[in-house]
Amino acid sequence: MTILVTGGAGFIGTNFIINWTSKNKEKVINIDSLNYASNKENLSYLSSRKYILIKGTINNKKLLNFILRKYKIRKIINFAAETHVDRSIKDASKFVSTNINGTYCLLEELKIYFQSLNNSSKKKFKFLHVSTDEVYGSLGKFSKPSNENSQMQPNNPYSATKAASDHLVRAFNKTYGLPTVITNCSNNYGPFQFPEKLIPLIINNAINEKKLPIYGNGKQIRDWLYVEDHCNALILILKKGKIGETFNIGGNNEVTNLELVRSICSILDSKIPRKRGKYSQLIKFVKDRPGHDFRYGLDTFKVKSQLKWSPLENMKTGLIKTVEWYLENPKWLKDNISQEYKKWINTQYR
Ligand code: DAU
Repeated sequence: MTILVTGGAGFIGTNFIINWTSKNKEKVINIDSLNYASNKENLSYLSSRKYILIKGTINNKKLLNFILRKYKIRKIINFAAETHVDRSIKDASKFVSTNINGTYCLLEELKIYFQSLNNSSKKKFKFLHVSTDEVYGSLGKFSKPSNENSQMQPNNPYSATKAASDHLVRAFNKTYGLPTVITNCSNNYGPFQFPEKLIPLIINNAINEKKLPIYGNGKQIRDWLYVEDHCNALILILKKGKIGETFNIGGNNEVTNLELVRSICSILDSKIPRKRGKYSQLIKFVKDRPGHDFRYGLDTFKVKSQLKWSPLENMKTGLIKTVEWYLENPKWLKDNISQEYKKWINTQYR
């Protein structure tokens, strides 16, 4: 059996494939558009017996049709998405195209393919759609964390497109019986994350003696999930998660952005002290993100009780591992900092 991963050269997809190939015999086919946030070198160490990379988008139905049949795919996990909220605020068109239309094209091809399978293959079939806690919208400081039945109230173009994709997946399950599962995760962090997102951006800026930008007053709260913990949960859900269900996956690490940035600074202070002063002196409060959600938080009782999953890392251990990874991989950071990235940073943090 072969599994199909979409968007497997991006941050979470890369970590998933590393994790999967180290524990499972099944070969992985990765279809990835290889856009600015993906890097095919991440997985170039894997042999072609275990891993094949195909450049393409999930909007390409013909290509999807070919891959599903050629490799007799039985399990699919969809990471392919535009994911950066700030980019969606500047221009949402790619988000609509990939996250909504792309998911629709993928579902349409999966439906046709699934219907062509015999009963025993149908029983093995599963489509796991990876989504986000942002679809539930913003929580108040003392509100209960979102559970799988919470109302969807997306507030930015990115989360609106992800919510739309979740609805499509649900509809294909209910209408056509396509065996689907949806996961909604909190903020991931760890190795291979593109430095436009908060944690790698802060690490990269700090080691280059640049300002550490914090939007607004830095009091917004996010729940942080170490990417390896997320991938462990995804593998369990791909194997055992009940069809038609949604699972929240969170790290139980809710902190304010300011606290988080200060923690990164103190880890860096202990590992590579600055010549003068502390890294936290580089903190700079900048203009807030429009429509900035105050808090995300997830109730993860369902995945914990049904699948016996729990995160292994807490915020402290996960952050230390992450900082160490970036310090040990300066070449990765350098290779990923393209002209396009510099242009983005210059317009975003003018
Ligand atoms: O919650 C899950 C989501 O987490 C994922 O679905 C998204 O794909 C992912 O990008 C992430 O969204 P956020 O907007 O929460 O992540 P980001 O790293 O962009 O920002 C984290 C928090 O830090 C957020 O409150 C905005 C703030 N921030 C971000 C940047 C880039 C800053 O204060 N300064 C910054 O420079």
